[in-house]
Amino acid sequence: MPVSRRAELEAAIERRGGPALRAIEWHESVLSTNDRLKALARGGAAEWTVVAADRQSGGRGREGRRWASPLGGLYLSVLLKPGRDAASRLPLAAGVAVAEAAQEHGVEARLKWPNDVLAGGRKLAGILAEAASGADGVEWVVLGIGVNVALDEGALPEELRGAVASLAGESGRKAGPPSVAAAVLSRLAVWYDALGAAPERVVAAWRERAVAWWGERIDVRAGRETLSGRLVGIDDEGGLVLVTDGGQMRRVLSGEVLRVRRAL
Ligand code: BTN
Repeated sequence: MPVSRRAELEAAIERRGGPALRAIEWHESVLSTNDRLKALARGGAAEWTVVAADRQSGGRGREGRRWASPLGGLYLSVLLKPGRDAASRLPLAAGVAVAEAAQEHGVEARLKWPNDVLAGGRKLAGILAEAASGADGVEWVVLGIGVNVALDEGALPEELRGAVASLAGESGRKAGPPSVAAAVLSRLAVWYDALGAAPERVVAAWRERAVAWWGERIDVRAGRETLSGRLVGIDDEGGLVLVTDGGQMRRVLSGEVLRVRRAL
């Protein structure tokens, strides 16, 4: 299984004309593809080294959460070495790439700040970017992407059932993790290039695919604070902008939208 998944990914990438991956590991099972790739990055692995798995026994999500990782999902991590400016918008580029890959697989996905990928209001994919910095700025970023490709809901913890969407479930089409991985990586290569050349295009592409919450009342967690107010939008660096109930314009660079309440 691991060898053939890897060969399928290589063939699909070749058919698409890139990107040139430096090394690919495809595990039957691993603790976390991000953890494995971080170990490779510390050992000097090259940009575009990829680690993927059929399952993870200790998959991690944002904010220290667990990422349930049964068979039928894509668990993918890719090593990138962007400059500091590009690094801040990298999760947005990844969100756009995942949404485009979903579209290729027959699913219209929407992006929820900062980097959730939703289909029909349910979670289709998630992105966990983990960076290492040195004196000269960002040294590398491990971009971890989990996509629900053809999950059997019964394999998920009970609290997630009904809350997640999958490519196969939404599209009624068969999809395999290697083909989804190839689509994600090749779209990511396009948007990764754009981060250097025209970062505003990445933010514009993200906005186009965002859930239409502009003007809605939201609660957003920003560090230890929870802010409530009206969502203005996403600024050019990818920060979330809102006008709080107290009338202050606030910009949140990292956090999480907790609740959206329809504007009256
Ligand atoms: C989220 O909380 O939305 C982010 C989920 C990210 C999950 C992916 S699966 C591949 C990679 N390995 C991990 O342990 N996590 C990321």
